[in-house]
Amino acid sequence: MGKKKLRKNKYIPNLAEFYFKPDYNWSIEEAKMLFDNNENENENFDKIFYRDCVVGIQELKAESIDLIIADPPFGLDFTGKESLYNRNSDYVVEGYQEIKIGDYQSFTSRWIQEIPRILKPHGSAYIFSGWTNLLPILQSIEDSGLILRNHLIWQYNFAVFTKRKFATSHYHILYVVKDEKKVFFNRIKHYETDTWTISRKYKPNQRKNGTKLPDELVRKCVNYSSKPGDLVLDPFTGNATTQIAAKSEYRHYIGFELNKQLKETIDTNLASVNVGENYIPYQERLSSIEELAKQYPNAYNIYKKRLK
Ligand SMILES: C[S@@+](CC[C@H](N)C(=O)[O-])C[C@H]1O[C@@H](n2cnc3c(N)ncnc32)[C@H](O)[C@@H]1O
Repeated sequence: MGKKKLRKNKYIPNLAEFYFKPDYNWSIEEAKMLFDNNENENENFDKIFYRDCVVGIQELKAESIDLIIADPPFGLDFTGKESLYNRNSDYVVEGYQEIKIGDYQSFTSRWIQEIPRILKPHGSAYIFSGWTNLLPILQSIEDSGLILRNHLIWQYNFAVFTKRKFATSHYHILYVVKDEKKVFFNRIKHYETDTWTISRKYKPNQRKNGTKLPDELVRKCVNYSSKPGDLVLDPFTGNATTQIAAKSEYRHYIGFELNKQLKETIDTNLASVNVGENYIPYQERLSSIEELAKQYPNAYNIYKKRLK
């Protein structure tokens, strides 16, 4: 009987974390310089346009956007006040723009089909969707020629109570790209799965559109899929979560929003963050060797031995 083939290096759980380095790791000075040197072909950056994104996107220059983060309306009979986590609906800004149920497929296909034209060859998009409108979104992605790289699940808390079925506590995020060979992706963590558990922040006594995404969730998309100085588009601005994530991480933004009543909230939100205030070089965002040693003592012992 032949000998069992041994692995060259025995697999040690968590050891790889001790050696991991992000693919790109700009210093604060480099990130600021890339932001200031702004080489965008789009002259309309760092602005929000209060108009229909379907028309707005058509007017954007070809290959002018690095990243798109899109959280479209649900296509339900929704006014923005229903979510349980917005406990006091007096703080919800009126005028949430819904899509009529029968129009959802044609509406979705109209904005998604423009994405390959406006994205740069290395560009990508994160499209958010509840399960009720997933089918038209997937169909439109397929028709557009975009490549679906991951079907991410965002798992959240504050699920709306249901009596006779399971309470929904997840969202779909379709991570799509224009060209798999050219796509920009900065692996900033050694091991990242396609299920992201991130809490919804309950922000009492603050004016908002009733469907705010968590900042942490949107910043994650920005950090994996763009470089400092890049241009990030959000066609459905809402509270400007994407624009705030972009600004605070040294990226530029552009946004569309139909609801003009949100302008004051959006202006206040954008003024509340400084350019680059959340930016930390990616290597520094990782756990230190000391922290990893506490978390994974067995792996640390091997790491120490191999250093000698
Ligand atoms: C689900 S919310 C986005 C929430 C946002 N991601 C946030 O974190 O605050 C969708 C937004 O799209 C806006 N909207 C709906 N149809 C639109 C259209 N055709 N063009 C631009 N904005 C639209 C709605 O008024 C709403 O503010």
